[in-house]
Amino acid sequence: MTTTSLWIPGPTEVRPELLAECARPMIGHRFPEMTELLERIDPGLRLAFGLEADSSAHVAVHSCTASGLMESVLRGVTGRVLSLVNGSFSKRFAEVAESLGLEVVRLQRELGQAFSTEDVAVALRDQGPFEVVTACASETATGTATLPSRIAAALVEHPDTMLFVDCVTWLAGAPIDLDANRIDAAIAGTQKALALPPGLGLMAVSDRFLERARKAPRRGWFLDPVKLVECHAAKKPPMTPTISLHYALARQLEEISSGDLEARLSDRPHPGPGAAAWAARFARHARMRDRTIAWATERGLHHTCAREDVSPTVSSIDAGGRDVPAFLAHMREEGFRMGGGYGDLKQTAFRIGHMGDHTEAELEQLLAAADRGLGSTA
Ligand SMILES: Cc1ncc(COP(=O)(O)O)c(C=O)c1O
Repeated sequence: MTTTSLWIPGPTEVRPELLAECARPMIGHRFPEMTELLERIDPGLRLAFGLEADSSAHVAVHSCTASGLMESVLRGVTGRVLSLVNGSFSKRFAEVAESLGLEVVRLQRELGQAFSTEDVAVALRDQGPFEVVTACASETATGTATLPSRIAAALVEHPDTMLFVDCVTWLAGAPIDLDANRIDAAIAGTQKALALPPGLGLMAVSDRFLERARKAPRRGWFLDPVKLVECHAAKKPPMTPTISLHYALARQLEEISSGDLEARLSDRPHPGPGAAAWAARFARHARMRDRTIAWATERGLHHTCAREDVSPTVSSIDAGGRDVPAFLAHMREEGFRMGGGYGDLKQTAFRIGHMGDHTEAELEQLLAAADRGLGSTA
């Protein structure tokens, strides 16, 4: 096989139609065409973040990666921060908050351990009050999910505490339900389950976040969350945006929201448009996750986290003592680029990014190749 398909935990494979969107002739970002382009993005983005029809939450896009938006939303904070840390990306939220001079308490768990409602409730009770809790819905380092609803349940008793969620390997792969989970800020990028090139940050924030952020004294300029939300609402980007990526994002959101893309990818009846189309996309991700768990279990392999905590988009699997670099080289030969384990797990585990526009049939091909690879590297 001469071409390879990308199954790392991001960036993910991008469909040729979407790459072609990036090759459109340039427009001026003050042209009416740019306003129209930004207007095309909003309906799908609101569905991706699971906003209710009458939601007062705001969405915005910004030409930076997800880490930039992590910093952006923290620039709207002045009080104490509780950061749930169980891997390098959840740690990043804490590090960015500390770099901004905020007082941060880390609630630390081992790699692969998820957070329970009880964990968070105890920390809030014993070490609070906090202005905000930060969490990572899908810790890409270990493929561990921490359901936003679990943290939201702990916050019921602390209505003044905000919840910020890193949805980088969650958005477009599983439901976030920003309003239902009373999330105040959710941030993501384009290069994961949305299956687009990297370079565009996506955010949704509650109205109360915006009101509080207005009072934060040093919000900077490039990442000022109030400016980002207000400029997006006015369809006036504060600086020259990554216009090419906006074309690809608009098309992808429209194709997902129509249900047409999912009908093509899943070989199932057309789900219908709107929220039903997004639910069908989430369901395909859940099936790919479950199939990967079943495959690993049948072969006596274990995920880095407990089975019930496996992320909908990323699996980190212990290779059972096999030679991981040789296994990944075999996979590359067969046309599949997969990830090694993260950090300390580099030599002992491999990761599959089962997300984006990958199909279940393609996953079967990858798993068949993995069987051959496991056989030859045992
Ligand atoms: C969970 C998570 N958070 C944050 C990031 C950082 O995103 P970016 O590299 O787009 O800034 C990543 C990147 O892989 C991630 O997986």
